[in-house]
Amino acid sequence: MYNDNPTLDFLNKNKPLDESRQGEVLEQTEQLSEQLNGKYFYIESYGCQMNFSDSEIVASILSKEGYSLTKDYKQAHVIFMNTCSIRENAEDRVRNRLKDFGHIKKENPGALIGVLGCMAERLKSKLLEQEHLVDIVCGPDAYRALPELLAEAEGGQKAVNVLLSREETYADISPVRLDNNGVTAFISIMRGCDNMCSFCVVPFTRGRERSRNAHTIVQEAKDLFEKGYREVTLLGQNVDSYKWKNEGEEVVVNFAKLLEMVALVNPDLRVRFSTSHPKDMLDDVLHTMAKYENICNYIHLPVQSGNSRVLKLMNRTYDRKWYIDRVDAINRIIPDCAISTDVITGFCSETEEEHHDTISMMEYVKYDLAYMFFYSERPGTLAARKYEDDIDLATKKRRLQEVIKIQMQHSLESNQKDIGKTVKVLVEKVSKRSEDDHCGRNDQNKMVVFPKGNTKPGDYVMVKITDCSAATLKGHLV
Ligand code: SAH
Ligand code: SF4
Ligand code: F3S
Repeated sequence: MYNDNPTLDFLNKNKPLDESRQGEVLEQTEQLSEQLNGKYFYIESYGCQMNFSDSEIVASILSKEGYSLTKDYKQAHVIFMNTCSIRENAEDRVRNRLKDFGHIKKENPGALIGVLGCMAERLKSKLLEQEHLVDIVCGPDAYRALPELLAEAEGGQKAVNVLLSREETYADISPVRLDNNGVTAFISIMRGCDNMCSFCVVPFTRGRERSRNAHTIVQEAKDLFEKGYREVTLLGQNVDSYKWKNEGEEVVVNFAKLLEMVALVNPDLRVRFSTSHPKDMLDDVLHTMAKYENICNYIHLPVQSGNSRVLKLMNRTYDRKWYIDRVDAINRIIPDCAISTDVITGFCSETEEEHHDTISMMEYVKYDLAYMFFYSERPGTLAARKYEDDIDLATKKRRLQEVIKIQMQHSLESNQKDIGKTVKVLVEKVSKRSEDDHCGRNDQNKMVVFPKGNTKPGDYVMVKITDCSAATLKGHLV
């Protein structure tokens, strides 16, 4: 069985709305609606943070059409699933969930089911043949067409729009914040990907890379700060290749510049970002991070493999030596920077020795956190066309278990080093484990749990660390 532990596989996480916040979200949706049409939509998101961020764009588009958000899919006139195709089991989860929604159609034949996101884009109208329950198929660049697609579907037609765009960034759409703690928010700064890593479907499901207008990004950060948010995460598949130039303006805004612009919104607004591609992450970004205290000292730098031959087959365009050089640069310029990674085990033709290069890379870097997967062949990708998926499942999984074991040890050691330190935490919410505790992250993106005292979400507090597990730090207020 695939290891479905959500701490190891955030990409497959299905994260429905937080129950306690539902009222607030509904209220927000209602405020936005020009005129309510008495209809409810339900949305469930799978996959990466970009998909969760896109669901907020979808919520905004639908609420402008008069739809209200509901947490209860049984009450919904339309059920949306914003889907992920990154690995086979991500798609399997969506197909299984569709079965749950099947009985809704029996009880309420008028209810519509819409598939959004990467599966919609990958499978296009084939999805309608495979999944008879689905009424609407809408790809990630076509969300502005949802009102028309809904009208078509209500008229009894199956409705599809999977056109990819070279320009769409939804820059002008103000997202309706879902799963809202009122403190942290995502901001999409770019869409698509041009990298063509041989294992990856994203360039096919998300289209060409394009950067969003820098001024609208800064404005969104300002608006969030004014509403009480204290942390933004800038999102892109490869943030270091962000590049934007306004017509008539001389300056080209690169990622280092954009980071600075967002950091300057307010010193009390923390800035995070994801994902950094090792080939593009150069020293300028590191110097900007070192310069501004509110840019968090945390970099997600997916290595995928520690072996140069495998990296070449993966078309990652860096080798082991380059990656180590980037890690050394991080440690030199930002000595207390946390580093996390993604690892794939059992890629086509990977030998036991090459697998051990990944392990030795992990030993070298000592990642604070890692998301680890065994290779899953995706139809249409370069690897599927060119290489044989020749590592048997048992070996892929055994190698995965080996890297997970080492990572658990490294995460624990990294947290143990923090015992005795006092760290600055942005309070996010009540801890899941205890009503009496609050939790929030430190600069390094580590989750810290502590007795809440008089603190409230959005406060910065100092916490002395007294205990830890591999996943969290525990302490008390000082
Ligand atoms: N843009 C990011 C990654 C996005 S996908 C980057 O370039 O780093 C997130 C992670 O899913 C990848 O880093 C990779 O580790 C994993 N992944 C992607 N395709 C996969 C596949 N076919 N099989 C297994 N894991 C995969
Ligand atoms: Fe996929 Fe590579 Fe693009 Fe990341 S950089 S989304 S792994 S193609
Ligand atoms: Fe999945 Fe699409 Fe993100 S394939 S990981 S939801 S870009």
